[in-house]
Amino acid sequence: MNNRKWLAGIVLAGAAVSLAVMPAASGAEQYLPRLGDIMNLVQVRHAKLWFAGQAKNWDLAGYELAQLKQSLSDAAAFYSGLPVDNVTTLSQPIQSISDAITAKDGKRFASAVTELTSGCNACHASMDRGYVAIRIPTEKPFGNQDFRPQGR
Ligand code: HEC
Repeated sequence: MNNRKWLAGIVLAGAAVSLAVMPAASGAEQYLPRLGDIMNLVQVRHAKLWFAGQAKNWDLAGYELAQLKQSLSDAAAFYSGLPVDNVTTLSQPIQSISDAITAKDGKRFASAVTELTSGCNACHASMDRGYVAIRIPTEKPFGNQDFRPQGR
C-alpha cells in the first residue's frame, strides 16, 4: 500500500469511527484473513463464551456468542470450500446457547456449549482436521480480563 492510500485509509477510518465502529473504508487494500486465523478467533470466543457463562455474566456471554457467530459466518463467506452444512448444523446449538443466555439458565447453557463443541469437531473430522480437537476449556484464556458481571 502506498503512503497516500494509507493516509486516506486513516482519514476515512477516523470519519467512520465517529459514526459507528466500522471496518476501514474503501480505498484501503483488503486483507483476507487465513482460515486458520479466523479459527483462532473462534477458539478464543468459544473459551470466553464459556467463562462468561460460568461467571453468569450473561451480557458478556451474549456478546461473545455474537462475535463467535460473526467469525463463523466470515469463514463461510470467505472460504467457499467449507462445507456449509457443517456451518449451518451449528446454528441449532447456537440458538440453544442464545435461549439459555436469555433465560440465564446455566445448566442449559453448559449443555448447549457442549453440543456446539461437538459441532466444531464434527467439521474438523470431516475435513481431515480431526487432530484439532476442541473441548470445554479448563483454564481461563486471559488473566487480563475479568469475566464477572460488572456493577452498573
Ligand atoms: C465448517 C467447518 C468448521 C467448523 C464448523 C469449525 N471449524 Fe475450526 N477449522 C476448520 C478447518 C478447515 C480448519 C483448518 C484451517 C487451516 O487449514 O488452516 C480449522 C481449524 C481450527 C483451529 C486451528 C487453528 C490454529 O491455527 O491452530 C481451531 C482452534 C479451530 N478450528 C476451532 C474451532 C472451533 C472452536 C469451532 C467451533 C466453535 C470450529 N473450529 C468450527 C473447519 C471448521
